[in-house]
Amino acid sequence: MLVTEPTDDAIAKAGAAIRAGRLVAFPTETVYGLGADATNARAVAEIFAAKARPTFNPLIVHVGSLDAAAALAELSPAALALGRALWPGPLTLVARRRADCAIADLVTAGLDTIAVRVPAHAAALALIAAAGVPIAAPSANRSGHVSPTRAAHVAADLGERVSMILDGGSCKHGLESTVLDVTGEAVRLLRLGAVTAATIEALTGRPVSRATVAERDGGGDGLPVSPGQLLNHYSPRARVRLDAERAWHGEALLAFGPVVPPHDGPVLNLSASGDLVEAAANLYAGLRELDDTGAASIAVMPIPREGLGEAINDRLARAAAGRLPQKG
Ligand code: TXA
Ligand code: MG
Repeated sequence: MLVTEPTDDAIAKAGAAIRAGRLVAFPTETVYGLGADATNARAVAEIFAAKARPTFNPLIVHVGSLDAAAALAELSPAALALGRALWPGPLTLVARRRADCAIADLVTAGLDTIAVRVPAHAAALALIAAAGVPIAAPSANRSGHVSPTRAAHVAADLGERVSMILDGGSCKHGLESTVLDVTGEAVRLLRLGAVTAATIEALTGRPVSRATVAERDGGGDGLPVSPGQLLNHYSPRARVRLDAERAWHGEALLAFGPVVPPHDGPVLNLSASGDLVEAAANLYAGLRELDDTGAASIAVMPIPREGLGEAINDRLARAAAGRLPQKG
């Protein structure tokens, strides 16, 4: 596996690799993605194999522009307005697949909807342009594990299963994109992410509805609306203990804010100034770093649930829920 800075030469090679059906990991402003040609079913199958991802969990298709997204998905006026306001950026729209959409069925897990996003990272946009095809890309981690925010995380999780990693340093947001269902009249929040609910509400001028856990994760009949939101996502090896006032002996402490209780084990502060944007950017790398200390448990200090804190707490709750049996 080749790890390289996203120079013009490396981008050209990576684009050719995508066109040849290989997997390329690349930086985005949210987390690293594991990319393949979205029109090549074999290449897409390699993504599922490399991640050990259940094939009922559909992938996001990354494109270079709003027009390119609209060529794949039927975007309503409200969806187009959101795309115009927030793309390129950490927003994913789930809409009906166009009848003439050339994307492999495996990408959309057989659903009649498709998830599209225009990433903001310069290397991601350059890769999409060099490949000349839409790029299907989940986060570049083993399925169920913490998402990667640095090239080294990708290498640790996927190793030789990926032919090339474009190293763009640390991801700016550190949390995945916000996923919105825009198939109907009302915009529905399927996954909390780097764009806050308040931002979406300010743009649409109405409260955003949230998919219920049963809708997101299944449990009723039929397919879950957003199958990736299974409860065992984003888990480190260590147990995760939430809203901890202090850490116990043998634990690692994931701290937040200026006042940290004394602890004789590993301590990592997500943001000493109590800034939620900084905490989000440090969350996954922090979980991985404390996990690597070998601590059996990670105690996490309380993090406010407002703004980006809502998405941070969502990921931490999933990490703490531990490894539930996978469905399917
Ligand atoms: O920030 C991100 O979104 C990153 C970067 C690489 O772009 N990607 C990412 O992909 O987080 P992934 O595969 O880890 O998460 C995609 C989420 C999953 O929860 C999946 O179920 C949902 O999007 N999704 C994809 N297609 C969908 C569809 N047609 N309907 C509903 N949910 C969908
Ligand atoms: Mg993921």
